[in-house]
Amino acid sequence: LENLQAAFNGESNAKAKYEAFAVKAEEEGYKSVAALFRAASQSEGIHAKKHAAVITGMGAEPKAEIAKPDVKSTKENLEAALAGETYEKETMYPEFIKQAEAEKNRAAVRTFRGAMLAEVEHAKLYKQALAELDAWKAAGKEFMVCQVCGYTEMSNPALVKCPVCSVPKEKFTVVK
Ligand code: FE2
Ligand code: FE2
Ligand code: FE2
Repeated sequence: LENLQAAFNGESNAKAKYEAFAVKAEEEGYKSVAALFRAASQSEGIHAKKHAAVITGMGAEPKAEIAKPDVKSTKENLEAALAGETYEKETMYPEFIKQAEAEKNRAAVRTFRGAMLAEVEHAKLYKQALAELDAWKAAGKEFMVCQVCGYTEMSNPALVKCPVCSVPKEKFTVVK
């Protein structure tokens, strides 16, 4: 339960942070980076909701404290976002999954795992944006976000169903 609350708090803050980073990216003329931040923000909101449902299901109340996002340049914001995703996918969620498994809490395992797999993609996309930052000034990159689990990828016509939660592609929204 403590881990679920920590994850709920982290996802809620990530959602707010990426929204603010998207505004900054628009201001600096990085249109495709702004789209990526908007897509990731949507995804983190879905993670927060999913964690909240498990917390509620355990009879507790989800609690988050939203800090004012620390907005810097878009390049620095991407670096901060990449660091956050890397921590979540490599440290936080693997540890939380291990603990939830030890407690045989399958709902918690499922929600942590779903989030972790999306964070892997977020980290990849942030890395790519940093490597090609100038090219990401132009608009045109589109992202797909699974509205059920938050899985995110760059628009992919070959996608038929969500690789994480298996819902059909109709359950995805396109963010640009
Ligand atoms: Fe997330
Ligand atoms: Fe993420
Ligand atoms: Fe999904």
